[in-house]
Amino acid sequence: MRTFPKDFIWGTATASYQIEGAVQEDGRGPTIWDTFAHTPGKIHNGDHGDIACDHYHRWQEDIALMQALNLNGYRFSLAWSRILPQGRGAVNQKGLDFYSRLVDGLLAAGITPFVTLYHWDLPQALQDDGMGWQRRSIVDDYVAYADVVSRALGDRVKHWITLNEPFIFSVLGHLLGTMAPGVQDMPNVTLTVAHHALLAHGKAVPVLRANVPGAVVGTTMYLQQLEAASDSPADVAAAARADGFVNRWFLDPLFKGSYPQDLAETFAYFMPPIQPGDLEAIRAPLDFLGVNFYERRVVKEGDEQPFLNFSYVKTDLPRTAFDWEINPDALYNILMRVHKDYAPTAIYITESGACFDDVLQGDAVHDAPRVDYLRGYFAAALRAVEAGVPLKGYFVWSLLDNFEWAEGYSKRFGIVYVDYATQRRIVKDSGRYMAEAIARRAP
Ligand code: FCB
Repeated sequence: MRTFPKDFIWGTATASYQIEGAVQEDGRGPTIWDTFAHTPGKIHNGDHGDIACDHYHRWQEDIALMQALNLNGYRFSLAWSRILPQGRGAVNQKGLDFYSRLVDGLLAAGITPFVTLYHWDLPQALQDDGMGWQRRSIVDDYVAYADVVSRALGDRVKHWITLNEPFIFSVLGHLLGTMAPGVQDMPNVTLTVAHHALLAHGKAVPVLRANVPGAVVGTTMYLQQLEAASDSPADVAAAARADGFVNRWFLDPLFKGSYPQDLAETFAYFMPPIQPGDLEAIRAPLDFLGVNFYERRVVKEGDEQPFLNFSYVKTDLPRTAFDWEINPDALYNILMRVHKDYAPTAIYITESGACFDDVLQGDAVHDAPRVDYLRGYFAAALRAVEAGVPLKGYFVWSLLDNFEWAEGYSKRFGIVYVDYATQRRIVKDSGRYMAEAIARRAP
């Protein structure tokens, strides 16, 4: 049988604001997501993360679930404002203690922690000071935060992920305004935010290495497989622009030390303020690239996307409840492409998964579409390993159904169902399927 390597990491991924709840406990400071979620009209159904999956109180049960599902890795994020309630300055020991206990619990269960430093829940105090990521000195705030947490956890946590998806939080948070902090501004703001995020990443890398013996440092990017609707030069060029913005705008600085020239010309009026030394810092050598992958999109020349002049074309492949195309080959293709064009030392799929309209029936959730989805995507990942991609692990999004940002609790991504009324966890068929796949190391 064709199998994944023995040391492959099988995990699930989560994010602090999406699962923890306990937003006012043990000294946690408010974040931009608390503010955004409590702004009327921003979130489906008026939902918010005040309780979420109550993971802050149920983390032991959640680790036991991971163990029962044969998982040997767990990617989670730290809530910056639990540790530095004002974003900088005084350290809140109780916040650090929570993560320290979580890490100890994971290690005792044989689960390797992968810690994300920033998964979108910026301390509100830092947003109030010069609009958060728009202010260049946020880089210093971020590096100081990375220093505090890596000193505290670095004796046990080796795997560090600096950022989650700067493309998404710069574009949805600062151009479209559909995510926190809900800013709708000109593209120069988006690109400034993205530049500061990349710079914060680059400047934190040496700090993490200095503080953590045997550090394995990476970052996580949102990647899309973008394909042209036709062979026409206009559509091919449109696909190149879309790919340039979503993928190359972030991967080129990380791995090549420059923004892509073609896009820089398109964005001439909107370029971020790049200072001498920035691009060198951003290109700090990485131990791995984290790939979050959800979608292939087909594009043609058009006016749906201003500035970049492309439109999306809907395909007739099956789709998830988010209306995202199901297409395992696209995962294979994006992994091959990243390997060929950027050659990261190692790659982890740090998120991949699907939401469906799950139904709880007694004690079971028969989520056959998610089982098929995982089987197809695991097979694509295995093909990539066999083709020579240094893929070292696969984190399914997500362990639990959780607060899906602007969609609130309406979109379920978990391999474990959460009954929000009681906080009862019910392993879905997809959870059982994943446990079996891990045991046989094959889809
Ligand atoms: C990703 C996010 C993650 C989750 C999934 C569905 O973009 O990183 O938090 O919301 O989408």
